[in-house]
Amino acid sequence: MSGVGGHDGLDGLGVVVTGGGSGIGAAVCRQLAEAGARVGVLDRRAETAHAVADEVGGLALVADVGDTAALESALTAADAGLGGLRGLVNNAGIGNLKRFESYTDRDIDLIWKVNVTGVYAGIRAVAPLIRAAGGGAVVNVASVSGVRPTRGEAPYSAAKAAVVALTQAAALELGPELRVNCVSPGFVRTPLNEMLAADDAMRHGIEARTPLGRVGTAEDVADLVVFLLGQRAAYLTGQNVVLDGGSVLTSGQMDPVLGPLLDQFGGPPPA
Ligand code: NAI
Repeated sequence: MSGVGGHDGLDGLGVVVTGGGSGIGAAVCRQLAEAGARVGVLDRRAETAHAVADEVGGLALVADVGDTAALESALTAADAGLGGLRGLVNNAGIGNLKRFESYTDRDIDLIWKVNVTGVYAGIRAVAPLIRAAGGGAVVNVASVSGVRPTRGEAPYSAAKAAVVALTQAAALELGPELRVNCVSPGFVRTPLNEMLAADDAMRHGIEARTPLGRVGTAEDVADLVVFLLGQRAAYLTGQNVVLDGGSVLTSGQMDPVLGPLLDQFGGPPPA
């Protein structure tokens, strides 16, 4: 961002976070407020949007990002209410879990509308506002599922891959006034997947397949999002940063073959 003053250069700048009422979005709102930004907390659930906005001294915006007209009005209201917009975090997203052949057109349309059309419409609406305010940054939240599809999440994986391509296209067309980057988290413990994370056996299984040995936190993602929004990322655009503790590196195909050979011939394990 081209703003001046404060940590990350975000002090006093208006930034909207979609899906800001819970999980990753709420953590981003908190860190932005700590960096001195004026935060617009956009969520389809009024109660959570207001709760987080009250907590961070921000502006609550109630809209469904899949309703592009409502999203555009909310962003226009944020521009007026926050004294100009210099950033947008397209974080709201939804998924589902079904076998490939069980997804209906309706399921696919809904996932696409929220995760892809909502992101596109958000960028399209803020671009002129950010330009008018003097330039800024957009960060999209995709998923490691878009880089390495997950079984049972075909439309979600495809939609998140589209968000990465959309990030690159927007960065290409909207510079130099706008930088556009993307974050693709691996498993992050939030209300979205608390049922899995709270199950010790399930969580330990995930941790065992993660080189950094733990699941991610919403704060891990917020650290990166705030960095990408801020002045220290001033020369970074069109990038997708996978933030997953190394989970995509897990060599599931060869581990069962090479693991026993490594135990036999690979020398002693580390003390
Ligand atoms: P969450 O369920 O805790 O929070 C999502 C928030 O977005 C909720 O407050 C919800 O009301 C809001 N929201 C959902 N649909 C909306 C819509 N159509 N319009 C406006 N607001 C809407 O979820 P979490 O985990 O914080 O996820 C945030 C983003 O991170 C999503 O895009 C998700 O796909 C992505 N992600 C999450 C991962 C995880 O393991 N938790 C992993 C990879 C990506």
